[in-house]
Amino acid sequence: MSHVVPVLAIDGPSGSGKGTVSRAVARRLGWNFLDSGAIYRALGLAVERDGLSLDDQDAVARLAGRMDLRFSSGEPPSVWLDQIDVTDRIPTESCGAMASAVAALKPVRQALLQKQRDFRQLPGLVADGRDMGTVVFPDAEFKVFLTASAAVRAQRRHKQLKEKGVDVTLARLTKDIEERDERDRTRAEAPLRIADGALVIDSSDLGIDEVIARCLAVVGVL
Ligand code: DC
Repeated sequence: MSHVVPVLAIDGPSGSGKGTVSRAVARRLGWNFLDSGAIYRALGLAVERDGLSLDDQDAVARLAGRMDLRFSSGEPPSVWLDQIDVTDRIPTESCGAMASAVAALKPVRQALLQKQRDFRQLPGLVADGRDMGTVVFPDAEFKVFLTASAAVRAQRRHKQLKEKGVDVTLARLTKDIEERDERDRTRAEAPLRIADGALVIDSSDLGIDEVIARCLAVVGVL
């Protein structure tokens, strides 16, 4: 019975700090964690690996259904796609762009719905994504929409990627982020939008600890 398991849905655009914040909140609460973006990213890699065309939506959806995806609970967690460690390929911008493209396909989103809901296990789940509070867990007790100005988001992402050794210019990144956000916001299927009842947090001028504290307060933990 999934509804007895509490969910904190954290949605928002890329670079809003969602990933870092939701991981930290899950750790603090001792809850499970769903990185739904990593699922779309892994599918993007699998589509590329198999040379599928995105025009063949049903083939992509079938691949989504059969791909074997595992997350290790390590720190940082590693991601395994069909027994191959793809951890280093997941965070790249090209992988993000592929994820955004496969994520726009309706049959793909349907094929991945149950996989995501399976993460709803006791004692609770922190779910990070674009449609956690609107589509995947509309009955989530706790909902946050985390955002930040486009300039701040691009700068954060730039810093994050540089730390990971990924070489990309700020200008290029800003353009990529704007394009990806536009596609995520305007797609017909589960577009990025604020869920009813979600607390909107603009993290542009907030430190990470403050954002984490506000999310914990939503769940009633101070
Ligand atoms: O959160 P992220 O940057 O890892 O997500 C990568 C892409 O996947 C993002 O551009 C849109 C898509 N995505 C989605 O459509 N729905 C989700 N719940 C999570 C990600």
